[in-house]
Amino acid sequence: MSKKATLEIDGNKYEFPIIEGTEKELGIDIKTLRGVTGGITTIDPGFKNTGSCESGITFLDGEKGILRYRGYSIEELAEKADFLEVAYLLIFGELPTAEQLDKFDKDIKEESHVDEDMKRILDGFPKSAHPMGVLSSLTSALIAFNPGSVDVDSEEAMYNAIVKIMAKFPVLAAWTMRKRKSLPLDYGDSSLGYVENLHKMMFSRPNKSYEANKIVNEALDKLLILHADHEQNCSTSTVRIVGSSHAGLFASLSAGISALWGPLHGGANQAVIEMLEAIKADGGDTAKYIDKAKDKEDPFRLMGFGHRVYKNFDPRAKIIKVSAEEVLGDLGIEDPVLDIAKGLAKVALEDEYFVKRKLYPNVDFYSGIIYRALGIPTEMFTVMFALGRLPGWIAQWREMRLRKEPIGRPRQIYTGENFRAFKSVSER
Ligand code: ACO
Repeated sequence: MSKKATLEIDGNKYEFPIIEGTEKELGIDIKTLRGVTGGITTIDPGFKNTGSCESGITFLDGEKGILRYRGYSIEELAEKADFLEVAYLLIFGELPTAEQLDKFDKDIKEESHVDEDMKRILDGFPKSAHPMGVLSSLTSALIAFNPGSVDVDSEEAMYNAIVKIMAKFPVLAAWTMRKRKSLPLDYGDSSLGYVENLHKMMFSRPNKSYEANKIVNEALDKLLILHADHEQNCSTSTVRIVGSSHAGLFASLSAGISALWGPLHGGANQAVIEMLEAIKADGGDTAKYIDKAKDKEDPFRLMGFGHRVYKNFDPRAKIIKVSAEEVLGDLGIEDPVLDIAKGLAKVALEDEYFVKRKLYPNVDFYSGIIYRALGIPTEMFTVMFALGRLPGWIAQWREMRLRKEPIGRPRQIYTGENFRAFKSVSER
């Protein structure tokens, strides 16, 4: 028999169905709440208890540290798949056949040019502009060069829009970095794979032929896979909610990039390295910073620690920690910041404050260390995250449109002034 929840308000009882997900997650379906109770609403700032949608893309269990894309474990995907395969899986629901993957790759390559006029827009930004702001603006500007909303009832139109953004986004991301470094803009090389080409577009020099580095490209590929989706996080919810107004795909993605930029979300990877650098410059006293993080009078938080959902461990952090050590070893890099990171994690993992609150290193704690080892500038870290998250955002936007979800429009409880009569300036 299907489960039901009963709510009692002032002696009146209301019944609500409980829906069950494929992984036995339960959710009280309150769609009829306001109607049956005469306008009573729920309040849940930060949506800590609120499901915004049903989704078949990503499953995560924060208690057990499980993360799966379309049913496949993140551990297996990180080891055996490449980023383009994972992107296809997330967006279209199944791992591609060799033929489908080849077509996807070719179609992306075919679209990997950006209107030359976009360069003038990029030129207008100061060199000091943060790449995330530039990337969000350029993604939004793409709409002007690719007008017309996607016809979501046409699979072909959907596919074409997806291929376009998968192709142009890495070009724009690489350009944001090249602009800061005063390097000529580069278009990459369509004989290279998606991730290799991204690396080339970021790092190629005008006077040198590009040499691919297997270790670097494999590490990048893995990082992008680990960041590719994470169900209804802040930026993904932003993409879905903006898209729910039927704003186009590129507009929704541009909003998602802005959401990701914040230091409590994707911006944490930059904040982690800045924090580790600050600790190093301050003599490397990790205990001092642990105390600061625990002090409620001090706004300092241990960046890269804690997660809204993972209350056991972040499976991505586990993979990345091993990867960070391998990459640094393979590239022969000794980074004192990695030692500080390890020291900090060790102390925090044994400290009662962190243990009690279930605060563990998250994906961002180690990703910055790898990015640094790969020569990626700190202010580009969150852009790398966005490059990885792109297929997840697209998949979530596509799912939301295909399911014909209603416009996202939360309620509130008003706590402002009651009615008051207007007073003219002379009466105030
Ligand atoms: N350092 C110190 N204390 C912390 C930290 C931290 N990093 N994170 C949480 N806490 C404490 C809070 O002060 C709070 O303590 P209290 O119960 O005594 O008041 C308790 O742990 C719960 O914290 P909340 O902020 O309520 O947890 P929430 O789920 O809202 O926040 C978040 C999660 C934003 C990730 C938080 O842990 C944080 O700010 N971490 C640092 C930033 C970071 O690494 N963000 C990346 C997240 S992963 C991602 O976006 C890919």
